[in-house]
Amino acid sequence: MKHWDLFLAPYKQAVAELKIKLKGMRGQFDLDSTHSPIEFVTGRVKPIASILDKANQKGIPLENLEEEMQDIAGMRIMCQFVDDIHTVVELLRNRNDFEIVEDRDYISHKKTSGYRSYHIVICYPVQTIHGEKKILAEIQIRTLSMNFWATIEHSLNYKYKGIFPNDIKMRLQRAAEASFRLDEEMSLIRGEIQEAQAFFTRKKEFKQEEKN
Ligand code: GTP
Ligand code: MG
Repeated sequence: MKHWDLFLAPYKQAVAELKIKLKGMRGQFDLDSTHSPIEFVTGRVKPIASILDKANQKGIPLENLEEEMQDIAGMRIMCQFVDDIHTVVELLRNRNDFEIVEDRDYISHKKTSGYRSYHIVICYPVQTIHGEKKILAEIQIRTLSMNFWATIEHSLNYKYKGIFPNDIKMRLQRAAEASFRLDEEMSLIRGEIQEAQAFFTRKKEFKQEEKN
């Protein structure tokens, strides 16, 4: 539909640009041969059906989508360690190509579902042939472990339409606790892990040099 194409165009552009920019940050750490707080980055534009579902559920009039639906453009940054999340948030705060308009810290304050992640909402200027257009985008920053849990919980949520049988609910709570402990355990041997990763990166670089 033409109307949706027009509406979604700046969001598509923003996601494409943010992917390049955030992946670029990872590349810069690699160049410096220092531990990258960013493991990988994904991004998506919310499908029209999901936009309509959410607008319906939350009672958002379609003419207010731009202001009231913050995650039509959504980015995710995955980190190895919980501390990396705070490093990434600081890096994002220091950028001047967008403005952070909201912070939601579901790491210090995990959700009752067990969900953990750090969310920021940004106001991102997209350059168009008709001038600058500012859009809202949501960036979720989480560890690999948080991402694993959230992905599984999201699938189950979809299956059970948000109403989990009790045993599943209990399993998910336990899985959330296990995910939290995994992050804690990894943090404790963080130094060791990073040393090994730096060593293997160097080894790969040497191999590359031999080939050249
Ligand atoms: P939304 O209506 O989902 O936007 O809720 P909100 O406006 O209160 O924002 P919130 O920060 O709670 O959630 C935004 C996004 O975080 C969601 O679209 C999901 O991607 C993710 N999220 C939040 N809570 C959960 C959860 O319990 N489980 C999973 N899997 N993801 C969650
Ligand atoms: Mg939201």
